[in-house]
Amino acid sequence: MKKAALITGASSGIGAATAKEYAKNGYFVYLMGRNKERLQEVALKCRNGASLMSCDVTDTPALNKRLEEMLTTKIHRIEVVVNNAGIYETHSIEGGLDDVWARQMEVNLMVPVRIVRAFFPYFKEQGLGSIVNIASTLGLRPTGSTSAYSASKAAMINWTQSLALEGGAFQIRANCVCPGIIDTPIHQFHGLAENEKAKVLDSLRNLQPLGRIGSAEDVAKAAYFLGSDLSGWTTGAILSVDGGINLK
Ligand SMILES: NC(=O)c1ccc[n+]([C@@H]2O[C@H](COP(=O)([O-])OP(=O)(O)OC[C@H]3O[C@@H](n4cnc5c(N)ncnc54)[C@H](OP(=O)(O)O)[C@@H]3O)[C@@H](O)[C@H]2O)c1
Repeated sequence: MKKAALITGASSGIGAATAKEYAKNGYFVYLMGRNKERLQEVALKCRNGASLMSCDVTDTPALNKRLEEMLTTKIHRIEVVVNNAGIYETHSIEGGLDDVWARQMEVNLMVPVRIVRAFFPYFKEQGLGSIVNIASTLGLRPTGSTSAYSASKAAMINWTQSLALEGGAFQIRANCVCPGIIDTPIHQFHGLAENEKAKVLDSLRNLQPLGRIGSAEDVAKAAYFLGSDLSGWTTGAILSVDGGINLK
């Protein structure tokens, strides 16, 4: 059976780059996201085979149906789950109403919790599994106006270490990538006209000791390293991929 990886949020940004990185390294990839056309475009670039798992991950019955399809079909040996789908909203403390918190806690934390809960028995039976959670440097050091998002990512980091502790006896590893500022559609500046975008990138450059913001591919390489057996003796790690931004 071919080894396989599930990547959530594979229709865009970091998830799309991560899917391509796994495919390049011989994995069959399960691509989860809402936008079918963009998932299809990513699938076309994954030469080792891809299956589209289109669904809104907050629609729990739809998510469960997709998970069941993957876990019962057993065409491939799923070794890796990359919990990458996420949303980012800025707000003041007073503006952080229940729905703002609920949305971000749901997509960024509870959906990964549900996915891993479904995968744990499968990984236990297989005697092998690797979970990569895409958190954020904001989960390590928050900024103003990102409190709900930062708290959701801080919880994800902490949860990753619980997974590593409980999963270790079954050879289930769990690790976390904390990206810094990455040029993806999650940021409004991503889609700006070239000259406007250049101005924004210039203003962000010096925040990083390495002198630039990151690309989706920078993060994808780390997500591949932590998911694959390149990091076979690493679990509970929190890897910042951020150009050094949190050192400043
Ligand atoms: N970019 C950064 O600077 C940065 C920094 C730190 C951490 N991160 C984290 O990296 C991860 C990926 O973000 P990105 O920057 O690549 O952003 P992005 O380009 O906006 O991608 C987000 C992905 O999440 C998916 N998604 C969101 N809500 C969903 C839902 N309800 N159901 C199904 N899929 C959903 C989107 O799918 P559809 O479009 O198909 O709905 C999309 O594929 C996120 O967890 C984010 O918090 C990003």
